[in-house]
Amino acid sequence: MKKYNLLISDPLSEDGMRPLQEASHIHMVMNLNWNTEQLLENIGSFDALIVRSQTQVTRELIERASNLKIIGRAGVGVDNIAIEAATEQGIIVVNAPNGNTNSAAEHTMAMLMALARKIPQAYLALKQQKWDRKSYIGVELKDKTLGIIGLGRIGAEVAYRARGQRMNVIAYDPFLTKEKAEKMGIEYGSLDDVLRIADFITVHTPLLKETRHLLNKEAFHKMKPGVQIINCARGGIIDEDALYDAIVSKKVAGAALDVLEEEPFLNHKLLKLNEVIATPHLGASTIEAQENVAIDVSQDILRFFNGDPVRNP
Ligand code: NAD
Ligand code: MLT
Repeated sequence: MKKYNLLISDPLSEDGMRPLQEASHIHMVMNLNWNTEQLLENIGSFDALIVRSQTQVTRELIERASNLKIIGRAGVGVDNIAIEAATEQGIIVVNAPNGNTNSAAEHTMAMLMALARKIPQAYLALKQQKWDRKSYIGVELKDKTLGIIGLGRIGAEVAYRARGQRMNVIAYDPFLTKEKAEKMGIEYGSLDDVLRIADFITVHTPLLKETRHLLNKEAFHKMKPGVQIINCARGGIIDEDALYDAIVSKKVAGAALDVLEEEPFLNHKLLKLNEVIATPHLGASTIEAQENVAIDVSQDILRFFNGDPVRNP
């Protein structure tokens, strides 16, 4: 029986990978330490590749991947994969769009609450032996308006949870209708409505040409003074220089960022601002989400090598 070589180049749940490990026609290689050069050197011997968001599957890598037939993305965003190059070479790209929705929505709510109550800043002060109750006065979420830009899987889950916090919710999404918004108990608005009305704005779009720098200088100008921003979607949706200026000028009171344009981010100027809280791209980092996406992507790889149709080519 022909054996297919599968490379896994980002950390994935072992439990989720078990079906692949047990498949007699798959030879699985887990190599999390290869740098770009090593990846380029070795990719030619693999039939399949599974990545999360860390490995950059560039055109150059794809062009070297002479045996590659399928790329599995254990997660939603495929912005780290040169899709056009893959298509040109007849390589199928599959993602796992549902498995981390809940975790990403929960992380967004955690960031929203931590931002509103300045929890990370207060915790840092305590760790430095400072008992300071005056500097960390927050705001309530109840009766505030949350603006959601992008009401897909995660945006919708965030909307339900925000209603549970007794927030008003207004959302903008080109595919949202008034009827759907009404059914969800939220308000339907244009992008400008969201920018103008919201006390907190959270973005949940994919990173596309159309959404790059969707929140830019002009957009910040339209917002309410004191607005707070959350990004647990993709770096690049927010123009980071514009956000920095808006915080320094006090137009924006705070921001919670799980993602930035270049990752890993350590010395970014936004991280130096007290008003900014951040996590290192942890939206999908739960046991459950990682197991879900690993199972979904494993099943697709197995289906593909068994000659069965994959779910989302
Ligand atoms: P989704 O495809 O279900 O939803 C995206 C929504 O954005 C769609 O409803 C679409 O109509 C809307 N949209 C597209 N262009 C728009 C525009 N110009 N303005 C407003 N809305 C627009 O995706 P999802 O699963 O909800 O994921 C949302 C984002 O979260 C993606 O960027 C994804 O990569 C990211 N994500 C991040 C993490 C993390 O670890 N931080 C985890 C999971 C997903
Ligand atoms: C995703 O797009 O699924 C997320 O960014 C999560 C991840 O890749 O870890």
